[in-house]
Amino acid sequence: MTIVGNLIDNAFDAVQGRSGAAVEAGFALVERGGRTWFEIVVRDNGPGIAELDAERIFDQGFSTKDPKVLLPSGTGATGRGIGLPLVRQAVLRLGGTLHLDPGGQPGRGACFTVLLPHAGPLRQTDAAARTPRAAWTGQP
Ligand SMILES: Nc1ncnc2c1ncn2[C@@H]1O[C@H](COP(=O)(O)OP(=O)(O)OP(=O)(O)O)[C@@H](O)[C@H]1O
Ligand SMILES: [Mg+2]
Repeated sequence: MTIVGNLIDNAFDAVQGRSGAAVEAGFALVERGGRTWFEIVVRDNGPGIAELDAERIFDQGFSTKDPKVLLPSGTGATGRGIGLPLVRQAVLRLGGTLHLDPGGQPGRGACFTVLLPHAGPLRQTDAAARTPRAAWTGQP
């Protein structure tokens, strides 16, 4: 919920006030690296994310929005720039991966793709949990 809610929240913020605004969320089971993953895709047709910003949007506190406009991020917390850090934290905790296509061309906004291991949480060591890529290739 943290993951989907925050991504959709951001997508709606991004298209707000634009004509022909569209937000899409998709869910699917996909095969990657011999495993089944639950795939979450959220895309919008807003302005996309500038290259410079794309490196920072997952940082705690990075926001281009008005801090006085407090919106819930599904956590009861207030403030700005906490949505995506929470998303990333949740994805990593579940042993998943998070991919951003920043978009930016007309009609193509940001697209976030999350892959979560499908068959329950992976059995991982703490070290593996800190390096989620291991989930891709970590099968013996
Ligand atoms: N779909 C998107 N399109 C364009 N920019 C985005 C999109 N999603 C996130 N961003 C950018 O990333 C920044 C950080 O997002 P994040 O969700 O972490 O914080 P926030 O939405 O500003 O505040 P909140 O803490 O209320 O979620 C946003 O301020 C915005 O600039
Ligand atoms: Mg947000």
